[in-house]
Parts: sequence; structure tokens; C-alpha cells
Amino acid sequence: MKSAAKNILKVRRAPAIESELTVPGDKSISHRAILLSAISNGRCTITNFLEGEDCRSTAKAMGQLGVLIETPEPGTVIVEGNRGVFTAPSGDIDCGNSGTTMRLMAGLLSPQAFRCRLTGDPSLSKRPMRRVIDPLQEMGARLFAEGENQCPPLVVEGGPLEGITYRLPVASAQVKSAVLLAGLFAKGKTTVIETARSRDHTERMFEYYLIKFHREDVWEGTSLVGRKLLETRISLEGGQTPESRDFHVPGDISSAAFWLVAAAAQPGSRLLVKDVGLNPTRTGIIDVLVRMGARIREVVVSSAHGEPSGTIDIKGCRLHGTEIRGAEIPNVIDEIPVIAVAAALAEGTTRIRDAAELRVKETDRIAAVATNLRAMGVEVEEFPDGMAITGGKPLKGARLKCFGDHRIAMAFAIAGLFAKGETVIEDTACVQTSYPGFAETLRLIQKGKGIGRRTPVISSLESKSRRRKSTKS
Ligand code: S3P
Repeated sequence: MKSAAKNILKVRRAPAIESELTVPGDKSISHRAILLSAISNGRCTITNFLEGEDCRSTAKAMGQLGVLIETPEPGTVIVEGNRGVFTAPSGDIDCGNSGTTMRLMAGLLSPQAFRCRLTGDPSLSKRPMRRVIDPLQEMGARLFAEGENQCPPLVVEGGPLEGITYRLPVASAQVKSAVLLAGLFAKGKTTVIETARSRDHTERMFEYYLIKFHREDVWEGTSLVGRKLLETRISLEGGQTPESRDFHVPGDISSAAFWLVAAAAQPGSRLLVKDVGLNPTRTGIIDVLVRMGARIREVVVSSAHGEPSGTIDIKGCRLHGTEIRGAEIPNVIDEIPVIAVAAALAEGTTRIRDAAELRVKETDRIAAVATNLRAMGVEVEEFPDGMAITGGKPLKGARLKCFGDHRIAMAFAIAGLFAKGETVIEDTACVQTSYPGFAETLRLIQKGKGIGRRTPVISSLESKSRRRKSTKS
């Protein structure tokens, strides 16, 4: 069948990569740019907006709530902020596959003066919503889940909110953001406390859109070296309106992660990823690959609009196993499927623990990764909160499912680049969720074609790094 054939990715072993590329706009940042622009006091132009299905769901939802949004050209979105005065939608709001849309919208809709029903696709309909229901109810919101075990659909009956102090029981930027967004419309002060640092795009964007908030890091010990971050408290007063501003979305490091692994694990590869977000709450993938032996340099070239971005320069080599656990997990949570592929290609065992959250992502990512790696001949031990992967043996091409999960589909396309024989990944339409254009880049990589000629950027980076070294010495 034509449509089924279109949704299959076929991958074969590829030569070493020698290239430079850019990736589409960051998914987390694109969602937030739409939402903050929509509640701002005027017109905002967002550039490099991710035109993936998830972010389209957020934009569509805002449209249903009466926010005017134009797309004058691909990747550019103009939002007319309405200070958070939404109109009641005429029907359900379909959040598609996007947990970020549903959870952040729950926060924004809780203070509204109307009833709204948020639905999702079969995958989103199995994801836990109690994590946003609990704090928002504590703030006075009337919201409940219609599904079993507090799963979607989510019904929000808006009303006045009061600020609360809320300690996050799971490290989740979505929950943190839902409470902070609700806090903007609540009476008094809202404080969110996190004990493991999750991505901080909402806070950075608050700062950029001139929302006043206070952030305090609480440390154990006083010495700068070796002290431990106990918790971070983020507080804001309700009744604030974001100041409308234009915003540029950097490339998504979670999308870059696929090519970083493809290059890191292939001796002789050299890859530059440009205009990619380098927010330290998202760059854990670089730390992990460096620990596995990859040679990587990141160069921040801009911090415009509050988000650092720049170039990642990576050279491939033989990788070795590592351990990933504890506070590092939130920083790499979306990259774990492709890190697991790197682990399968590395000598020795990689242990990933404290990552039970993976069980409630777009699919159970621990089970999906273990199933697919085993099908490719890799030894995997599964734990409730992670897995141990023993790598280093050649991968076998296989026919794999992606369980409707974009990151599983892309991670195993990368595995296919290293496997003997053909790897076929079924039902890959879900890749559109976060990475339109992935299949085209994959095709170029497989053919060993440069995706952009590398020399000018590489040489400018090399002279920058020489300059840095000589300033230091
Ligand atoms: C996201 C936060 C993370 C991440 C998701 C996007 C966000 O989820 O996995 O892909 O944009 O806030 P959690 O908040 O559930 O950890």
C-alpha cells in the first residue's frame, strides 16, 4: 500500500559522516513561545518555530481560544497577544500526541471563566495527568480527568486561583510550567520547588518577556567546588502580563542528538551542528557522549532572547560504556533512546537508572528500547527505572516497530546506520511530531553526502578555539 510504504524508513549501514547541518527549531521552546506570546500585551513574531505536529497542536489550541495567529512564511509565526483573555472554544481542544500542550494548557486554562475539554491521540490518552491536576486543584482550579487512572480527556472548569507553594514530586518541566503559568493569573504568590533541575525554558522566557520572578538555588555546603544543589525555588506574583517581544527559536538539541550519536560512534566522522540550543539544562547528551569517549566541543555564539545557542563540533571514535543516573536524568530524558543506541555501539556496559519517567512518555521507552535492541542482537537487562546495555558486538539489521513514538523511530534509524543488512522501521509518520525533514537528512547521511559544505565553519571554529587557547596561555 502506498501510504503504508511511505511511512516506512529503510536504513542501511552508512559511511563516516563528514558534514555540517542545522536542525529544526526546539520543540519545548516553540510551545512556550506561542503560549507566552498569546498571553502577552501585543504582537510577537516568532522565527524558526518548529512546524512539527506537537507545536502545531499548541498553535491550533490557541486559535480555538480566539488568539490570532498568522504564518506569513514557513517557520515564522505572528501571534497577537490578548493578555490571556481567551474566548471559550466551540468544541474540544485536540492536543494530538503532545503532553506538553495538554499539561501547559491545563495551567493556562485553569484561571479562565469557561469550561474546556482537552483530548489527545491514543498515546496521549494513556499518559498521567494527576501530576498537573493535583497542584492546580490545590490552587483552587476545578479540573478532572475523564480517563482511567487520571488519564485524558482532561476537563478544566475555569475559576479564580490562589497562589500556592508546591514541591514537585517528579522532576517535570511540564508540571513546573503548568503551575507557573497558572500562577501568573492567581491571587498572591506562587512558588514551585524542584529538587532535580528540569529544563528551564519557561523561566528564561519569563525573563525575556519581562515577567518578574525570583529564583533561588539552595545548596548543601558552602564551598564552590563539590557543593550539592538541594533545591531550586521559583516564585512569582500573580497579575502579571508578559511584554510582547519577537523571539527566535534555536535548533533543537534533542533532534541534533540523533546525528551527534551517528557521528560520535563512527570513527573518522566529523560533524558540525550549527544554530542549536545549548541551554545547560538540555546539554546532558554532550556530557554523556564525552564520558563515553567522544570528542566534542560546543561553542556558544549567541544568547539572544535568553537562550544560549551555537555550534557543536563532534569527532567520531570508539565509544565505551558509562553510567547515567540521578540528577542527570531530567537533562537527558528525551535523549535516552538514542543514548541507548550509542550504548549498544560502545564497548562494555552502560547503566541507566532513576529513569522510571521513561515508562510514561509517548510509549514505555524502556520496554520499546529493550525490545528493539534485542531484535538487533544486543544484550539488554531491563529494570523498573532503567536498563543495562552491553554493547560492542555488531548490530543486526531488523524489522522494528516504533510504538507510535517519534524518538524511538529516529533512535533506531540511527542504529540502522551501523547494522549489518537492512533495518526497516514501521509506521514512522510519528517522526513529524518533532522532526519534519528527518528522513531527508537521513537519506543524505546514508549516501555519504555532505549536508552542507563544512570548511568555512570548521575553519572559523578552529581559529576561534586557537584564539581561546592563546588568550588562556
Ligand atoms: C518537556 C518536558 C519533558 C520532556 C518533554 C518536553 C517540556 O517532559 O520529556 O519532551 O517541554 O516541558 P516532563 O516534564 O514530563 O519531564
